[in-house]
Formats: sequence, structure tokens, C-alpha cells
Amino acid sequence: MTGTLVADATTSLVGRTVHVKVPATSANLGPGFDTLGLALARYDELEVSATPAGVEVEVHGVGEGEVPLDASHLVVRAIAHAFERAGVALPGLRLVAHNAIPHGRGLGSSGAAIVAGVMAAKGLLDGVVDFSADDLLELATELEGHPDNVAPALFGGLTIAWVTPEGPRHKKLIVHRGVSPLVLVPEHEMSTALARSLQPEQVPHEDAVFNVSRSALLVAALIQSPELLFQATEDKLHQHYRAAAMPETDRLIRALREAGHPAVVSGAGPSILVLANDPSARAAAIDLVERTADTVWQALPLAVDFKGATVTVA
Ligand code: HSE
Repeated sequence: MTGTLVADATTSLVGRTVHVKVPATSANLGPGFDTLGLALARYDELEVSATPAGVEVEVHGVGEGEVPLDASHLVVRAIAHAFERAGVALPGLRLVAHNAIPHGRGLGSSGAAIVAGVMAAKGLLDGVVDFSADDLLELATELEGHPDNVAPALFGGLTIAWVTPEGPRHKKLIVHRGVSPLVLVPEHEMSTALARSLQPEQVPHEDAVFNVSRSALLVAALIQSPELLFQATEDKLHQHYRAAAMPETDRLIRALREAGHPAVVSGAGPSILVLANDPSARAAAIDLVERTADTVWQALPLAVDFKGATVTVA
């Protein structure tokens, strides 16, 4: 973060308004635990203004009537974090959110809220502090704990994210145009903290090798060879440890995979991501779910988002 800090930077921000748009994401993608993520074309949009004092939050759509409307709101916390790390005192804030990313379903809603806050701070501090792409990823990862949702939310497309002693880094890749994601969303939520608590401290070496091979293959399948997506989405590092906590998800993934569809848990669940290799395979997966699922699933055929989060200064 490099800044030209003026004495009363905070006062000079009052009256600034920014518009932020952030995509949903699916993390892990099967074998790429805490590493791979995909941005999907479903968005939370927010307008954030710097005000003389106080915090006002208005939420429409997903989370309306449920999330806090004060300084503990996750977007506000992320804005405050970015201002603190940039060394600028936080002005008052007014935030109006229009949310479409389902909460607690493994579609990156908390990562999107954090990215929205970091991008809002970038926009509000335009001309005062410069945030590099690495800065944005670092700020967002500090709050999220792992970079696999926040990287695609920030940058779009398919992202490989890794952590170095200097902070998290990412590589963005453009997905093959045949890849046709389908997200299946159940009615219930799943806690990421609970899912993470089910992970063992250690895993067998052969399982680690299995996942190294599949995640390397998955990158090739997603950018160049979608016909390999079924084998490339196999995993031994996280899904079976968490299956008992989401039996409906486990059952439907088994049914989809038995029929040849590359289905995986989306993030920490309980949604399912099917990485179909063309639109007709995606339609066949929707048909199978409608015919066989024993619980209610909302089918969302979503395009890949190639742009990532945007911020425009009004
Ligand atoms: N990689 C994360 C997990 C994604 O599976 O726990 C959810 O935040």
C-alpha cells in the first residue's frame, strides 16, 4: 500500500460515493482445497458513501432482516480493516447493499462481503492510497483466513491462490468456453467453521499424492481439456471427512457422479458444483436432479465471471 497521506485525508473523503460489484465464487473445485476457486456470474452490489460520522447500513435481498446493520456488518468491518492498514482514520459510512449471493451455502458470500469492503475502501481512498492487486488479496485474506474464495471474487475467472511468507499470491486463468457450471443450492446452511473442524490434522501420503495429481489435471481440464473434468474433480482431502455433516449433499454428489457428472462440494458446502463440459451435459445434470433428488435443490446454471470485483467512483 503506498499513500500520499494528507493531514485531513478523512475529512476530504466525506461526500465520496463508490459503487461496488462482487461475484459469487466456488472454492476447492474438488481436489484444489484452499487453493483453487472459480468466479460465478451472480453478484452482490453495494453503494458506499463516506459521511461525517456514524455507520448506517441498509440491506436488500439476501440477508435482509438477518445481518447486523451496524459497525459489526462484515462489509463495514472490511472497510475499517483496509483503512486501518492504510493508516487513514475511518470516516462515517453509509452503505446500501443489494445481495444475490446465498448465505452459508458454500458460494463465497462472506468472501464477497470482505472483498466488497476492501474494494469500497480502494474506491473511497482513490488518489490518497494506491492498493496493488497483492495488497487487495492480502487485506481480504487476513479477514477470510484462506485465499481461495477471495482471489476469484477479486480477480474473476479461475484462480490459483497460494500463501508465501510475504503474503498470499494468485494466478488468474481464463476458463475454456465449453465449461458450463451448475450450482445446486439446498435450503439449509452449513457452517464453514464446522466443516473445517472435521478436517484431520494429518492425511495419508498417498491421498496427498492423489490430490496433487488431480488438481494439476484440473487446471488443464478447466482451461484446455474439459473432457477430463470428471477424473480431474476427484478428491481425497476434504469431502469424505465432511460428508456426514451434509448427508443430502453427499447423496446427490454420489448420484451425479455415478451418472458421469463432475460434481463436487462447492467450497465448504452444502451446495454442489457440477463442472459440466458443455451446456447439454449441464441440462442432463439438472434433469437428473429434478428426477431423483429426495430433498429440495435450487438449480442455478451460472456463467463464469471473467472480470472479478469492480469499483466505480460516483
Ligand atoms: N477452502 C475452504 C474450505 C472454502 O473448504 O474450508 C470455504 O471457505
